[in-house]
Amino acid sequence: MDKLFMLSFLALLIAAYGVAGNMVYDNMGMLGKLECLDMEEENDVDVFEIPSWTSERGSKVLVNVESFGAVGDGVSDDTQAFLKAWDTACSTPKSVLLVPPGRRYLLSATKFQGEQCESDMVIQIDGTLVAPDEPKKWDPKFSRIWLEFSQLKGVLFQGNGVIDGSGSKWWAASCKKNKSNPCKGAPSALTIDSSRAVKVKGITIQNSQQMNFVISRSDSVRIYGVQVTAPGDSPNTDGIHITQSTNVVLQDCKIGTGDDCVSIVNGSSNIKMKRIYCGPGHGISIGSLGKDNSTALVTKVVLDTAYLRETTNGLRIKTWQGGSGYVRGVRFQNVRMEDVSNPIIIDQFYCDSPTTCQNQTSAVNITQIVFRNISGTTKSEKAMKFACSDTVPCSNIILSNINLEKKDGTVETYCNSAQGIGYGTIHPSADCLNSHDKIYLADPAETRIEDIVHTEL
Ligand SMILES: *[C@@H]1O[C@H](CO)[C@@H](O)[C@H](O)[C@H]1NC(C)=O
Ligand SMILES: *[C@@H]1O[C@H](CO)[C@@H](O)[C@H](O)[C@H]1NC(C)=O
Ligand SMILES: *[C@@H]1O[C@H](CO)[C@@H](O)[C@H](O)[C@H]1NC(C)=O
Ligand SMILES: *[C@@H]1O[C@H](CO)[C@@H](O)[C@H](O)[C@H]1NC(C)=O
Ligand SMILES: *[C@@H]1O[C@H](CO)[C@@H](O)[C@H](O)[C@H]1NC(C)=O
Ligand SMILES: *[C@@H]1O[C@H](CO)[C@@H](O)[C@H](O)[C@H]1NC(C)=O
Repeated sequence: MDKLFMLSFLALLIAAYGVAGNMVYDNMGMLGKLECLDMEEENDVDVFEIPSWTSERGSKVLVNVESFGAVGDGVSDDTQAFLKAWDTACSTPKSVLLVPPGRRYLLSATKFQGEQCESDMVIQIDGTLVAPDEPKKWDPKFSRIWLEFSQLKGVLFQGNGVIDGSGSKWWAASCKKNKSNPCKGAPSALTIDSSRAVKVKGITIQNSQQMNFVISRSDSVRIYGVQVTAPGDSPNTDGIHITQSTNVVLQDCKIGTGDDCVSIVNGSSNIKMKRIYCGPGHGISIGSLGKDNSTALVTKVVLDTAYLRETTNGLRIKTWQGGSGYVRGVRFQNVRMEDVSNPIIIDQFYCDSPTTCQNQTSAVNITQIVFRNISGTTKSEKAMKFACSDTVPCSNIILSNINLEKKDGTVETYCNSAQGIGYGTIHPSADCLNSHDKIYLADPAETRIEDIVHTEL
């Protein structure tokens, strides 16, 4: 399948140029490797076994939070009832922890520990979980979390319910809204930490105090049909934030927030996103990385099929000066944009700080980044921006079939210290990418260097 696709892609190139003899295609090594990151389709074999609630409903044991005293009037504190229900569900094989529909359960910051749990638990959220709205009364012990689930193994979250962080007072208190306030972190609404084989299906997460949904230190997580909503001006309310996690799939998610729709940071690898709707928001981002001279590694990220509307960025990689490590092997493809401010942007001078950031010699190394079939409208003139470090240039940026237009004016590409090549239509043209007519192979262990004929960008 991958091979077939590669062949048809190359055939297309040949058709487009009619100069097959002129082009050398044995850079298939690298492209081939990137092709291997294709998404498995929805019905392909799952990356892990998922407990199912519908197919085995009969044998499931229902653990209803109301049986443990949860009131669901949005006023009474239901935290203890939820913790008791959790303990029971956790120690019961084939349990379904049920949050019934039609009610609002007020929960304060809580950690749900899954280490001792039976596997195959289902958490059926049909009602609304709501956070207390007053930052001043927040338990300082839980300054960065509201609902945290950790050490889960084989758990399915599903339902039509809502997780609502009631974040408006937190936003008002943010230093981004009120410069006289100190800059400090706020809780994330939902966190899945140190877990594996977790699936989240269908629920809505909204109005978080800060990040809406964090996946940290986890492996094999599949997020499917999840909706994330927060106002476009709510500060730092990232939609789905992935950190130190591997084998994560986001599929059919609709995200509108005040920060990145998706942010993927250090220690993440093999992250696949398919059919993502983003807007409002700051786009789909890798980073930020390398803050405070830290080392960051992000590899193998694929976004396939996305629609971004009125976001401040589109497809973005952002790193701070002074960092180290690398971002390697990223493919963004089949993306449609509408009124996006920076549709394609690699920024190695990212500086989200009240004071200016000094240039340094060290930077996170960005290499093997593919943008393919990206089209739509840009709000800014610089439809493509590759702002790379003078000492650690970006390399092997591959553009293929890009068409970005501005409704009322011309568009251009900005480059600083960026090396790459383009295939097919590239608009605006990216002549500023300095191609050495050479593509270095993905695997640093491979010493072979493939020459490829320079094609006009
Ligand atoms: C900003 O915060 C300060 C201190 O917390 C407060 O006194 C002031 O009223 C706030 N300003 C606005 C515009 O909310
Ligand atoms: C980056 O991620 C790696 C791998 O998960 C981890 O070992 C390292 O501590 C992380 N670095 C920072 C600065 O968080
Ligand atoms: C990062 O490294 C630079 C250069 O060595 C140094 O000047 C700076 O103080 C360091 N910053 C931090 C936050 O450690
Ligand atoms: C290019 O991307 C758009 C938007 O996702 C999609 O509709 C179209 O089918 C893609 N074209 C090709 C040739 O894959
Ligand atoms: C850092 O380097 C870039 C690229 O050479 C340059 O455009 C920018 O002005 C520099 N920034 C500072 C703060 O020196
Ligand atoms: C960045 O990575 C590329 C590709 O692996 C490598 O060729 C280059 O030397 C690296 N740059 C630095 C400054 O380490």
